[in-house]
Amino acid sequence: MKIISVVGARPNFMKIAPLIRAIQKHNANPQSPIPIQHLLIHTGQHYDYVMSQVFFQDLELPQPDIYLDVGSGTHAEQTGRTMIELEKVLFKERPDLVIVVGDVNSTLAAALAAVKLHIPVAHVEAGLRSFDRTMPEEINRLLTDAISDYLLTPSPDADENLKKEGIPDDKIFLVGDVMVDSLLYNKAKAAQSKIIQQLNLTEKGYALLTLHRPGNVDEKESLLRIIKALSEVSRRIPIVFPAHPRTQKRLKEFGLLSQFLDISPESRAEPESRPIFKHQLLITAPVGYLDFLKLEMHARFVMTDSGGIQEETTVLGIPCLTLRNSTERPITITEGSNTMVGNNTERIIEEAFKILDGKGKESGCPDLWDGRAAERIVEVIGCHRFPKKIV
Ligand code: UD1
Ligand code: UDP
Repeated sequence: MKIISVVGARPNFMKIAPLIRAIQKHNANPQSPIPIQHLLIHTGQHYDYVMSQVFFQDLELPQPDIYLDVGSGTHAEQTGRTMIELEKVLFKERPDLVIVVGDVNSTLAAALAAVKLHIPVAHVEAGLRSFDRTMPEEINRLLTDAISDYLLTPSPDADENLKKEGIPDDKIFLVGDVMVDSLLYNKAKAAQSKIIQQLNLTEKGYALLTLHRPGNVDEKESLLRIIKALSEVSRRIPIVFPAHPRTQKRLKEFGLLSQFLDISPESRAEPESRPIFKHQLLITAPVGYLDFLKLEMHARFVMTDSGGIQEETTVLGIPCLTLRNSTERPITITEGSNTMVGNNTERIIEEAFKILDGKGKESGCPDLWDGRAAERIVEVIGCHRFPKKIV
């Protein structure tokens, strides 16, 4: 059986790494019904070292078999270019199955290119819904799920969403969360990271921030509402912000970079000669996966508009304030450490102060977030008989 997996953007790499390990384990097991030949395709949606290559090192991912070099662009440009380039690969390789993960433009583009060639598609992290169609990811999720053959879901709410959309039960497989597979697998390694010393921070002595949603960062007003809250919170605790390239660009454009103290790698050269930061907004370039996990593990709390970070903080039991008005991961609120605060200045300050006053939310761990989701996925796809190829 030949399988092609497609990755493109930062959060895809953590989702595919456990799957590749599970495929290797499947192939090493003499009881497995058929070996899997696996090819990894990188679309090139993310391309900076800190947004792509660093994850291949941190997650010990094999280098991609094929790199499509699609790059940045408008939604149509990026999606269209990915489809055009990937279709050529699919014609040549004629896989039995294409695996896509998450909800980025590369996910939808790959699923569309495959399904039009009658190649079955497996969607990992299917069924999540924010019910906010102004988010590009929601469109990507809805459409990818509508055309996928295997809907591999992380939590029961996702199954319910799919059933309500009329997806037959026999296509839906509740397997758990692959993001958690990566987290649990890499936690001990991440504990060795020296990032806290390198940034001159102290354990539990800082809050961690990420921001990249267009709804938060592409308009000056929204960004200002958040920065106002951050300034207030940073009077009580330093806030460390590894900033996504989209956000860095906007901060420059809006003249807001001066609100932050730059602690990016060049200025980290001699940590001993710099003071421990007290009450400040500290900005840096995005950091690698192991460094970021370490920062999450020892943060007093996390503020984010990321999807994956809501899950990671739930598993780590670190209070998380989600700077959005909706989440496609409601289980992190009902069972985990997540609280939704939007980009409302007062709400952010109020909830952050609650945590600083020792009233942060306790966290449980959802079922099947146990580090074995990828193995369950390979059980599902490894045992299936695929129809004869008609590409
Ligand atoms: C994308 C995903 C989003 C995901 C995020 C993870 C879509 C629609 N969005 O958003 O769901 O949460 O990735 O990080 O797929 N850029 C660089 N270097 C890079 C990559 C991007 O400078 O390596 C800059 C470019 O100016 C680019 C901008 O960031 O135009 C946005 O990149 P893009 O991939 O379009 O969307 P993200 O905001 O990264
Ligand atoms: N992450 C990272 N470095 C950073 C910020 C995030 O390695 O500077 C990791 C984080 O631990 C999580 C993933 O990136 O595993 C989340 O990706 P992102 O927030 O870009 O996308 P989303 O989950 O919102 O789609």
